[in-house]
Amino acid sequence: MLDNVAAVILAAGKGTRMKSGLVKVLHPVAGRPMIAWPVAAARNAGAAPLVLVIGHQANAVRNTFRGDTDIRCAMQEEQLGTGHAVACARDALSGFNGTVLILCGDTPLLRSETLEQLIRHHRTHAAALTVLTAVLAEPYGYGRVLRDEAGRVLRIIEQKDATPEEQGICEINSGIYCMEADFLFSNINKIGSNNAQNEFYLTELVAMAAQQGLTCLAVPTGDSDEIMGVNDRVQLAEAARILRRRINCDLMLSGVTIIAPEQTYIEHGVNVGPDTIIHPNCHLSGDTIIGSGCEIEHSVSINGCRIGDDCHIKAGSVLEGAELHRDVAVGPMAHLRPGTVLHDHVKIGNFVETKKAVLGEGSKASHLTYLGDAEIGRDVNIGCGTITCNYDGVNKHRTVIGDQVFIGSDVQLVAPVTVGCNALVAAGTTVTRDVPPDSLAIARVPQVNKEGWCLKKK
Ligand code: UD1
Ligand code: CA
Repeated sequence: MLDNVAAVILAAGKGTRMKSGLVKVLHPVAGRPMIAWPVAAARNAGAAPLVLVIGHQANAVRNTFRGDTDIRCAMQEEQLGTGHAVACARDALSGFNGTVLILCGDTPLLRSETLEQLIRHHRTHAAALTVLTAVLAEPYGYGRVLRDEAGRVLRIIEQKDATPEEQGICEINSGIYCMEADFLFSNINKIGSNNAQNEFYLTELVAMAAQQGLTCLAVPTGDSDEIMGVNDRVQLAEAARILRRRINCDLMLSGVTIIAPEQTYIEHGVNVGPDTIIHPNCHLSGDTIIGSGCEIEHSVSINGCRIGDDCHIKAGSVLEGAELHRDVAVGPMAHLRPGTVLHDHVKIGNFVETKKAVLGEGSKASHLTYLGDAEIGRDVNIGCGTITCNYDGVNKHRTVIGDQVFIGSDVQLVAPVTVGCNALVAAGTTVTRDVPPDSLAIARVPQVNKEGWCLKKK
């Protein structure tokens, strides 16, 4: 973390090549809006405040960071170029006179460590301006870094303004800079728009610093992935792939087994404890915490769940907004919906759906069941095919089942209804009235056997 650093993050553009109704910087990448990645990188490097230059869908971008006290927004009504965009941040930084980091909202792969190194290098050399560069085999489209024979930076020239000879230069401008605030704001209004695009180019400041005899540095990055800008959905997928690989690597290095990392989709914000095994094709997202020693079988989807230690989530299950305590088994192919709470040693079997259902310690619903708006005690057995009829077409009603109750197969519990502790509900019963503790409830049409009936029919 460095002191006296502010950041300006350019995000006013529309992102035309995304061909989207949503502004580019809000497209989700590995679990958060694209712009949240560079914002976090700048913040983690110590930058404050962070000024977002916004234009297209300004309110949507602003709302994404609602509540973040270190964020300020500066409006750029018309996109007249990167130089003009930074000039729009001037008021938001009035009074600030340290180092200004300038980034773009569409570079989700940038790391805070890289920014810290850039700022340290800039400060060690007392530079007025330092630009992060990369040497690319295919530099097409980027601004190129022009140096003199001694290697000193002269200027940056855009693709569209470059001569064929300049186009042969492979060192490119990443669009990430460090500038001293006094240099930046005393020169930003001197930028002209006499170029192929008639735009105010921020890159003009490089030539200005060089001409003013100030220290102007260009530092190549070691990892050119990091500066990759996302312009279209092909690059969006590529950036997401790289971010997922980073997330998976961090988890593996912290003790999680991921059987097939390239086929495992874990988003930002998910926490997993050591000695948990994750099989292929799982999707873990949202504010999810998984304990240690768990096994997550293949094709499981978990979103916004708390899962304790030693749980076993079997293949094909979908869990959203559920809370599982210790040693809970779920699935295969179970669906836990929001408000589900499963205490220690609960077992939920195949084709069971739960919603706002609390199951006490050791209770089981092993097959083909719907439990909604239900409060179920401990050591309860829910038989195959049980349904809580919680909805009367207008309102939802609760089912309460006491400890040690045995619910036989194919039971319907018409809520609101309570089954007392230690009661037994016989298979096939439709429960419409409360069942007192320790009693047997049975509601079936008595069976009649008509002997020989089938023979006569034929
Ligand atoms: C810019 C650099 C180029 C560099 C490249 C790296 C300039 C003139 N060129 O080119 O040297 O190699 O980035 O990716 O700076 N933006 C605004 N308002 C504007 C214009 C742009 O907010 O008026 C934002 C865009 O939303 C985008 C970023 O600034 O996030 C970069 O703008 P873009 O037009 O894509 O610049 P490039 O042509 O890629
Ligand atoms: Ca760009």
